Amino acid sequence: MSRYADFYRRSIEAPEAFWAEQAQLIDWQTPPQQILDAGNPPFVRWFAGGTTNLCHNAVDRHLAARGDQPALIAISTETGTERSYSFKELHAEVQRVAASLMELGVGKGDRVLIYMPMIPEAAFAMLACARLGAIHCVVFGGFASGSLASRIDDATPKVVVSADAGSRGGKVLAYKPLLDEAIRQSSHKPEAVLLADRGLAPMALTEGRDHLMAALVQKHRDAHVPCTWLDATDISYTIYTSGTTGRPKGVQRDTGGYAVALAASMKHIFDGRAGETYFSTSDIGWVVGHSYIVYGPLIAGMATLMYEGLPTQGMDRQPDGGIWWRLVEKYKVTVMFSAPTAVRVLKKQDAALLKKYDLSSLRALFLAGEPLDEPTARWISEGLGVPIIDNYWQTESGWPILTVANGVEQTRSKFGSPGVPMYGYKVKILHESTGEELSGANEKGVVVIEGPTPPGFMQTVWKDDERFVDTYWKTVPGKLVYSTFDWGIRDEDGYFYILGRTDDVINVAGHRLGTREIEEAISGHAKVAEVAVVGVADALKGQVAMAFVVPKDAAAASDEKTALLLEGEIMKQVADQLGALARPARVRFVSALPKTRSGKLLRRAIQAVCEERDPGDLTTIEDPGALQQIRQSLSA
Ligand code: PRX
Repeated sequence: MSRYADFYRRSIEAPEAFWAEQAQLIDWQTPPQQILDAGNPPFVRWFAGGTTNLCHNAVDRHLAARGDQPALIAISTETGTERSYSFKELHAEVQRVAASLMELGVGKGDRVLIYMPMIPEAAFAMLACARLGAIHCVVFGGFASGSLASRIDDATPKVVVSADAGSRGGKVLAYKPLLDEAIRQSSHKPEAVLLADRGLAPMALTEGRDHLMAALVQKHRDAHVPCTWLDATDISYTIYTSGTTGRPKGVQRDTGGYAVALAASMKHIFDGRAGETYFSTSDIGWVVGHSYIVYGPLIAGMATLMYEGLPTQGMDRQPDGGIWWRLVEKYKVTVMFSAPTAVRVLKKQDAALLKKYDLSSLRALFLAGEPLDEPTARWISEGLGVPIIDNYWQTESGWPILTVANGVEQTRSKFGSPGVPMYGYKVKILHESTGEELSGANEKGVVVIEGPTPPGFMQTVWKDDERFVDTYWKTVPGKLVYSTFDWGIRDEDGYFYILGRTDDVINVAGHRLGTREIEEAISGHAKVAEVAVVGVADALKGQVAMAFVVPKDAAAASDEKTALLLEGEIMKQVADQLGALARPARVRFVSALPKTRSGKLLRRAIQAVCEERDPGDLTTIEDPGALQQIRQSLSA
């Protein structure tokens, strides 16, 4: 048996012994009393009775051995700034922010919503929450007021941490007005707002509620804030993600299990070593940013590089398709993490840019978040000359489900496949409607995970255990299994291939979006009667959203000019409410949408028509003319 096969088998057959061993990768204040409690499926409690703290493991425990080594390197090609913090400096900064949050009344179990650009203060704020045992809810800075308001209402934060503005491609995006509008819309009102002022956009401060971070941090310059010891099963954070309904779900994560899962993955999967530099190009607003910008690398004692800016912009804000490689050279990055879309963007640049820098420090590039197509994988693999490691996972899992564990054993990758199940994950392929297990090679079904789920996996949906069970665990008749909502197959060697979502989630440039949320934003427009949003294949972004709208009054889009105007209004409405990311690439007008006789929208058929594929079985369609109209609207 290969080394990894044996490692995997132990994790499945003797999970308690396996994970007790992994638990030694982190510091505990009190050791766990019970490794695994799976007595109330599908809920799992890992390391109960053990007390620990994420911030202690990410920062404090490294002070003795590497206090003066870099911990956080923050680069912004938007503002042309480059700042580096040693573990000692990070420790001081985090305590200052922690003391500021305490002054604003934050304590264990309180929620702190973080709506920030990729600046070091965002990482300080996350770590400060972890230090205090407060639950952080980071909302991606690209989201707009409507999205933010619904998350404020769900998380009911005591404090919001934000900034004056973000910046993208030299374009300043003021956050403060979006935040003010979100708080105006939400029913829950945070008691205080803590604001980093980057001097990018003016801020109107609300007396008594808004506080400037710089002033509070200055006041608490010498703060000593000890870590609050939390039970392993205490909540560390929630992060919102999209699903089938328009209402985002708060994915809730524990403390001890998450710390152990990250420490283990840094060793066995990413093979990152203390004292080295890790560079993930993601954003703290996504799960990759939580696990592999902030917590994972720091827990492993690595310096983490935080990057604000486009992949094609230099420090002087001039176009530079080689900026990431320049940073790899300068900071001797050993492990890098990005998304296929970013690589496709770089692929449009001069290939010579890859050869211009000394990339000899780099051992591997990890790519995740969306399917990795073969031409992209080949291009970057040849250019970098290091293994390109596709890894498949979800916000819900917190760390890779399928990949190869090169830290355990060098394992061959196959183009098009993220790899094999990671230790702790019992991954199966089930028949969509019968729930029967498909164990033959290349049989297509739904990818599911059997419980107990490993450490780091979501505990539940924030405040809604029932939704957790009903949404994720009850989709297959007669079986309590976790559905990933992805189609997949497994080949004769046990490698999995992911074939797209089974639900209404789309993936735009590696960002997960719910088509229902976009539909809701569009139906709010006064001139819209009905709408269907589908994801359509796109060469650069993987998928883009496409909207088909039935106007209330046909005259509203009866000629090219009125249609163009209405399309613009609808796009703006989505961008204003949800953010530019969710804006449909195109809006087309039709007089009816294809539905079944019972009134269910035939989204898959619409999507197939958009991608020029066979729409499949249409026996249930009410009005075949509606699908014909979709086809015609595309060529219009
Ligand atoms: O559909 C799968 C796709 O992204 C979804 C999860 O997105 P998110 O919650 O944003 O988490 C991203 C964490 C990396 C999955 O259900 N997906 C993610 N990685 C891959 C992928 N599809 C194909 N290949 C991948 N490597």
